[in-house]
Parts: sequence; structure tokens; C-alpha cells
Amino acid sequence: MDNTNSAIYGVVGNPISHSKSPSIHQTFALQTKQSVEYKPFLVAVDGFEQAIAGFIASGISGVNVTVPFKENAWAIATKLSKQAQLAGAVNTLSFKDGEIFGDNTDGVGLVSDLKNNHGFDFTGKKVLVLGAGGAVRGVLGPIIQENPASITIANRTLSKAKQLEKIFANDYSISSSEFGDLDTSYDLIINGTSASLNNELPPIPEVVVSSHSVLYDMMYSQQTTTFNQWGQDLNAGSTIDGLGMLVEQAAEAFYIWRGIRPVTNDVFTRLRGHK
Ligand code: ATR
Repeated sequence: MDNTNSAIYGVVGNPISHSKSPSIHQTFALQTKQSVEYKPFLVAVDGFEQAIAGFIASGISGVNVTVPFKENAWAIATKLSKQAQLAGAVNTLSFKDGEIFGDNTDGVGLVSDLKNNHGFDFTGKKVLVLGAGGAVRGVLGPIIQENPASITIANRTLSKAKQLEKIFANDYSISSSEFGDLDTSYDLIINGTSASLNNELPPIPEVVVSSHSVLYDMMYSQQTTTFNQWGQDLNAGSTIDGLGMLVEQAAEAFYIWRGIRPVTNDVFTRLRGHK
């Protein structure tokens, strides 16, 4: 192993003990023969800025940022990537040359998972996104870059979908809808609401699902998620959960830090519990 370029990274959150990121990044480091340590950091809800100052002082090279600190990370960054600017949230910080670089790899992770792991091609596709909170704002930029035929955002609170329309208006003409007004089928339906956390389903009409629709739940669990079960009961073309997105966003962060893109399928298979 090359120790000349040894570095320490980590993931900052509260809670953090459940995080799969240390195991994912340690696997990437071994695979790519990078001398990298990656640690979980539990930080008090009001202690983010102080913790970051401490990481920089102690020579840590960068951190991933998870709930509830992605907006704090956006605010503390001295330089933001375009994706991070649009997302309004940062999940990857790099400390270098006196700067704090903020990036957001969630959307790239979602798009990579769909394209590279599931063979989904956005060209000519009608995309429906459910939800208009932070999670959805975080992924819209990379979806727009794929230039699908259309993107519709449906949300319980329509005004929040309209706000996203405005934020991304320079890049793409998004449409907004109430859940109940959806009246046609979509090629790709992404569930970015937090309803799944409570095993709830956004109240969307069944007409949105056809036998060729791909349903993507940004949440993952060992069991089929409520949203994906709903899709399977309606004979959707396929259903995918967010485990692949988790692994791919980590791979993109690793690439930002180390300049090497790790292979993801072994990590995914292990996390899925198949070996
Ligand atoms: P996150 O960071 O997970 O995106 P958020 O910013 O609080 O969290 O956004 C949660 C999203 O899930 C919102 O779009 C919310 O709808 P509202 O904007 O109307 O609040 C949506 N959501 C949460 N629970 C829901 C439910 N039971 N049914 C439908 N949508 C729900």
C-alpha cells in the first residue's frame, strides 16, 4: 500500500452509529490501494461549525455530511460546486489550501445507479418526482443534466414544488402538480418524500404506473419499501430502492477526494446481504 499520500476522512451526523459509510469507504480504499482512514463522527446538533474547525486543525482531509447537517455544510463551505449551489445542501466537504470545498454527490449517485447499474437511459423519458423537500432538491441537478423529455414534480404542498421550478428554471422547464391531478403514466417515478420513513405512501393515483414504469424509492431497507411494494402490486416494470444510490454517492465522494473511481458492485452486493 502506498503510504506517502495517507489521509483521514469521515462522516459527520447525528445519529451516526447506523452509518454504512465507514464500511463502504474502507472497502473502496482497500480496493483502490489508497492509504485512507475513514471514521464516523457523532457531532452535537448545535456543534457542527466547531467540529469542522477541529477537523481542519487536526489535519483531516474531508468529511461526508449527513442528517441533520447538510445545510450547515452548505453554509460553511467557502467554495461550492454548481451541483451543491443548486442543491442548497452539501454532503461532501474537502479541506484543502485553506478552503472548504462543498459538493453534493447525492444526485450523481442516483443517476449513476439508474444508468450504470440498471441500464436506464433518460433520453426521451417522462420523469415524475414525488416530494419537494431537501432530498429532492439535492438530486434534481444531475437528473436535469440527463435531459429527459419532461420532469414533473408532485408534492403535497404545491408551493414547494413551484419553488423548485424557479430554482432550476435556468437549466430546465420543470412542471409542478398536485398528487391528485396526475392523470398519465410516467417512465420513471422517483419517490423523494419522507413518507416511506413512516411506511406511508404519498397519495398518488395508480394511473401514473404502467407496465414499463421504473419506480425508484430514494429510501432503502432490507424489506421491500412501501412505495416499491405499491409499484409491484400494480405490476410496474421494475422497482429499485436507494441502496445503490448510497453506494454510488459514496463512490463519487471518494473520486472527488482521491481522483480514483472505485468499483461499486461488490460493496452493493455485500450491503444487500447476498454475501
Ligand atoms: P427531506 O430532507 O427528507 O427531503 P423535507 O425537506 O422535510 O425532508 O421534505 C419532506 C418531503 O416529504 C416533502 O416534500 C413533504 O411534503 P410537504 O412539502 O407537503 O411537507 C413530503 N412528505 C412527508 N410526509 C409525507 C406524506 N405522508 N405524504 C406525502 N408527502 C410527504
